[in-house]
Amino acid sequence: MTRELPELPTVSAAPNEKATIRFQSDGRELELPIISPTHGPKTVDISRLYRETGYFAHDPGFLSTSSCQSKLTFIDGDRGILLHRGYSIEDLAQDSNYLEVCYLLLNGRLPSRQELAEFENVITRHTMVHEQFKTFFSGYRRDAHPMALMVGTVGALSAFYHDDTDVTDPRARMIATHRIVAKMPTICAMAYKYSVGQPFVYPRNDLDYAANFLHMCFSVPAEPYDVHPIVARAMDRFLILHADHEQNASTATVRIAGSSQANPYACIAAGVACLWGPAHGGANEAALRMLMEIGTKDRIGEYLARAKDKNDPFRLMGFGHRVYKNYDPRARVLRESFHEVLEYLGKQREPLFELAMELERLATEDDYFRERKLFPNVDFYSGITLHALGFPLAMFPALFALGRTIGWISQWKEMIEDENQRIARPRQLYVGAPIHPYVPITER
Ligand code: CMC
Repeated sequence: MTRELPELPTVSAAPNEKATIRFQSDGRELELPIISPTHGPKTVDISRLYRETGYFAHDPGFLSTSSCQSKLTFIDGDRGILLHRGYSIEDLAQDSNYLEVCYLLLNGRLPSRQELAEFENVITRHTMVHEQFKTFFSGYRRDAHPMALMVGTVGALSAFYHDDTDVTDPRARMIATHRIVAKMPTICAMAYKYSVGQPFVYPRNDLDYAANFLHMCFSVPAEPYDVHPIVARAMDRFLILHADHEQNASTATVRIAGSSQANPYACIAAGVACLWGPAHGGANEAALRMLMEIGTKDRIGEYLARAKDKNDPFRLMGFGHRVYKNYDPRARVLRESFHEVLEYLGKQREPLFELAMELERLATEDDYFRERKLFPNVDFYSGITLHALGFPLAMFPALFALGRTIGWISQWKEMIEDENQRIARPRQLYVGAPIHPYVPITER
């Protein structure tokens, strides 16, 4: 089905368009080239700034700084647009599936039927981990957080696949990308099983990627477990919606780690570590915790009032977005899946989900939230969807990491294959003590 595409202007700078930086101290000027993106803001190339003027540019948090060129993902927050390789997230979530999106992100184009079948086959046949790999888990406390298990065990893949990981060899890079996409669900499910004290479940090659992951999480040796297509579809969509989000903190971490030509599995482990932070991968958990704290529908008014009170630090978790100032396009898709899952599981009347729907209604009708364009974001719906699927809160960031792995490894591959790639080496504005002589300990 073809959906109408939103209007999105392509951008081109005039051939001689330049920016001039002028130093008031001595009147010196430097002309800087303007680079045009396909879509989005034009970019001033400041890479010569230090060499030619002796000045650094200062931009903590990269608020105005592009750190790389990328062809993977485009976001227009004002228009609520997210594209992967030029395809809208709505089209991909509706008509594609996670492994096809993985192929698209990795290879830059949609696969033919045969290419997709081959890709599915190669991923499916690499899902098992070395039997010895299990022993890593038993070294952890039994109540270890799944993300602690993931950081360690994903990094441990580098011990199994070090010798053949020559990042300068395209074939070795391809094998590494296939292995990480294939083994991540197995490792993520093992982290879950370990954290709940159940035996690890081996992958099944007759199931698709999402269904196999659910099988490894929720089946137990004692009884059969069937993954319903609606539930598998919701999991698959969750993974698609988290596949990539251009240069966010964890992706930038993977790129920076990889820029030294480090082992790719170790780079992905760095991404997992960064994602663990509550400011990145923790928002869906925070949204669900907030719903649990609100508890009953009659208390929603009290929490809305608190969210609007400037003297109260409380914010409505799962509402608003730094980039999407119109609507988070991922939220719309996941909202649909959430309702499908609730209906299939017969959980529409469960108090927590009724509460969530009432909060969504009241907040979206409220002038405060409407005026500030504070809509429910993807984390609002992912929190309640994952809860409906039966995942505990501690697994939420691990599931985010599972979906984002394809983004991390595709961005890593793009970075390694970029001929302008150099080791990432940010500069700094030193504001410490000025030079002064060392004082021997006897004289202090
Ligand atoms: N509840 C109540 N008021 C809010 C909220 C909220 N969730 N979010 C923003 N505001 C208000 C804020 O107080 C400000 O009001 P005023 O203009 O009167 O001072 C106005 O809206 C603009 O807020 P802001 O802080 O300038 O917006 P921001 O772009 O800096 O913040 C945000 C974005 C996501 C940090 C924020 O909306 C928030 O804290 N939301 C709750 C946490 C959450 O759901 N985070 C997940 C985001 S999605 C993550 C991802 O994609 O990876």
